[in-house]
Amino acid sequence: MSEPAANRQVLIDSLPEDKLTIENYRVATAPVPSPGPDQVLCRTLVLTIGAGTRAGLQGSASYAGAPKTNVVMNGSAVSRVVESTSDRFKPGDLVACPAGWQDYSVHPATGLTRVDDDVDPAHYLGALGTNGLTAYFGLLDLADPAPGKTVLVSAAAGSVGHMVGQIAHIKGARTVGITSTEQKCQLLTDRIGFDAAVSYRSPDFRNELKAACPDGVDIYFDNTGGDILGTALRRMNEHGRIICCGVVSQYDTSNPAAAPTGIPGLLVNKRIRMEGFLVFDYAARYEAARAEIKGWITSGKLNPLNDEFDGLEQAPAAFVDLLAGGNVGTRIIRVAT
Ligand SMILES: NC(=O)c1ccc[n+]([C@@H]2O[C@H](COP(=O)([O-])OP(=O)(O)OC[C@H]3O[C@@H](n4cnc5c(N)ncnc54)[C@H](OP(=O)(O)O)[C@@H]3O)[C@@H](O)[C@H]2O)c1
Repeated sequence: MSEPAANRQVLIDSLPEDKLTIENYRVATAPVPSPGPDQVLCRTLVLTIGAGTRAGLQGSASYAGAPKTNVVMNGSAVSRVVESTSDRFKPGDLVACPAGWQDYSVHPATGLTRVDDDVDPAHYLGALGTNGLTAYFGLLDLADPAPGKTVLVSAAAGSVGHMVGQIAHIKGARTVGITSTEQKCQLLTDRIGFDAAVSYRSPDFRNELKAACPDGVDIYFDNTGGDILGTALRRMNEHGRIICCGVVSQYDTSNPAAAPTGIPGLLVNKRIRMEGFLVFDYAARYEAARAEIKGWITSGKLNPLNDEFDGLEQAPAAFVDLLAGGNVGTRIIRVAT
């Protein structure tokens, strides 16, 4: 295959003042980079977009540093190796890498994860990628889902959330999801195996959540923060666990709301443990976790969902749509075949 001489890139043109818009991005072209010693030139095939990158643009993700303009938008990809100066990879190999929103990227060979083609390679951006690992370690290391327990998860139809629900189900817990629309609630119960699902947009959300969790909540996996966290907090059982994974309800704004009331009073009275985590701390255990998740996929116990946009230039629109709740499962951008 002949490779084009130019590298299309989606750059951050300006930082969002309130909600993200597609005008915050511009498309540019740059020369295709060359690999240095022990480096690999990669052609992006599929990219993923997750809500967490909006926190990076807001400056609220400490690990991402201060947001910058005129740089390639960051993002994970599955790419094909085009050129390699490392004996670890050869042209044609598939790898997962932090490519960013561009056609070509260069990486140290040590920074790449080999992608096997025994499952859909796009799963390396979802179930076997950062979000699947986030669901796995957040749920299984910070809590103990087991038969008889109720696990509640917010942003339940999103990439992390739909994995949390399925892993909790595999472990025998009762699973309840919170999402925006009735249609998504139905998808959670009909296709993903949640025992119940509730819409946070319902005027009767509090009572509906209470009805969906008749025995209270033992483990709440919080992807949203905000009012949803405040409502879930009041459904927690004594000695419950709240896993703080992210705050998606407060990302797409320049004016995040204050934390909900009840902290720390309710934590004290109910002896609840509330704990945050970052998946990167578990890097040494990624391979073992991927092997277990892959086993669940190939045995049919886990059904990871990807939803797809076509074309690199669609990435900004796909991100804006995701923040408005347009995605089900992991959002994927097909860049090349
Ligand atoms: N701790 C870690 O290491 C780590 C790693 C990766 C991700 N994360 C976090 O995990 C969370 C989920 O990420 P993800 O990639 O799975 O999400 P995602 O697939 O990008 O989905 C985001 C979903 O959030 C929901 N949402 C958007 N605005 C909302 C609002 N105002 N209130 C409530 N829900 C809203 C939408 O679903 P609805 O239709 O339901 O509204 C949307 O589909 C994020 O908070 C992210 O930062 C943490």
